[in-house]
Amino acid sequence: MHKVSTTHGTLSILDHGSGRPILFIHGFPLDHTMWTAQVEAFEQTHRVIVPDLRGFGESSVASDVMSMARFADDLQECLSQRGVNSPVTVCGLSMGGYIAFELFRRWRPLVERLILCDTRAAADSEAARKVRYETAERVLQEGGDFLAEAMLEKLFSPKTLAKKKEIVEQTRQVIRQTSPEGIAAALKGMAIREDATPRLSEIEVPTLLIVGSDDAITPPAEMKLMEQQIPDARLCVVADAGHLAPLENPNIVNQSIREWLDD
Ligand code: MLT
Repeated sequence: MHKVSTTHGTLSILDHGSGRPILFIHGFPLDHTMWTAQVEAFEQTHRVIVPDLRGFGESSVASDVMSMARFADDLQECLSQRGVNSPVTVCGLSMGGYIAFELFRRWRPLVERLILCDTRAAADSEAARKVRYETAERVLQEGGDFLAEAMLEKLFSPKTLAKKKEIVEQTRQVIRQTSPEGIAAALKGMAIREDATPRLSEIEVPTLLIVGSDDAITPPAEMKLMEQQIPDARLCVVADAGHLAPLENPNIVNQSIREWLDD
């Protein structure tokens, strides 16, 4: 992992391979390791750039509220410091997708193509926002163990929970090791994120949408609506996968990315 010094702290980033760059942005409350199967699949043909977002993995925490715009600005700075000057394919999962929308809005020339996995365009409802703030407070007081237990059931498909216990366990450990301050800052940032729905029709770059067939957090129906609004979009529904499709069924996800990139 490389350490990149940015305006607001040090980010830890994996930067492997050569060729057209793909930036992989992890979901909440995870780290770069959720993309291990994609790194293995694409590092032979592409430059894969996989950061730990600020407050996650080995990246430092430096803010009370991490808005999606702040995460996006961090990534722009990271890419620039790593000498990436040409447009990249941006692949984000869930919170990583919210950040991808911001990268597209704020740093448009950086984005050549978009891959949006298990994410949504809509902002939080009032009720969802309230839960985010309550969860942030509780994590700061108690740590993230309760969150790991609460989230695992929702993150994975029934099949993954029953048959791929090592993935579930690894994810549990990643969440438990994440700093409470990082979790709280991202929760508050997601709570204030804008509704990206009105801008979907302006996304003129090729966009691949990927969703697990059993995703209980951002269900296929919601991603289908995104497909209808983004002009050049393709939707791939991944069998036997929940909210973490790239981790749960990497072969199908990697194949669909490869075919779409080669198209
Ligand atoms: C994620 O996987 O990043 C989260 O489910 C996003 C969210 O809580 O909205």
